[in-house]
Amino acid sequence: MIGTMESMTAATVEAAAVRAALLEHGHKPGALLPVLHHLQDELGYVPRAAVPQLADALNLSRAEVYGVLTFYHHFRSEPGGRHRVQVCRAESCRALGGEQLLAHVRERLGCPGADAGADGRFTVEPVYCLGLCASSPALAVDGRPYARMTPQRFERVLAQLAETGE
Ligand code: FES
Repeated sequence: MIGTMESMTAATVEAAAVRAALLEHGHKPGALLPVLHHLQDELGYVPRAAVPQLADALNLSRAEVYGVLTFYHHFRSEPGGRHRVQVCRAESCRALGGEQLLAHVRERLGCPGADAGADGRFTVEPVYCLGLCASSPALAVDGRPYARMTPQRFERVLAQLAETGE
């Protein structure tokens, strides 16, 4: 029963966010991306169940909406952990240890794949350039970028998060 109530609440929150996104951006030309960004910012993901409603409202096919949603790594279609760690896998970072950094972060946070770790605290996502190529390797935590990242520096970032009680 509790599970049903929780999912009803999540569905209600998602529906309200979709309505608000369409109200704010739906009338604009090329509205799909602003709508998706709105939902990603508001919910932390774009609910897959919203694809038919978005397609109808924006006069697009479901395939078009789904194609854009899955093309951009920025958009998630499932809820993630409370903190989002994005590790750069683009060329400059790769050349300077980005892959080892990603492996370290995944292991350290217990997030081997795209899903949140068991404690729901973190989600680890590969990204393709954070604009810090001259100071690779780079990652971002909850949108805040960190350059010249090492396992030791990452520990300090985690310690700062812990100090804020998050
Ligand atoms: S290649 Fe990693 S920040 Fe640009």
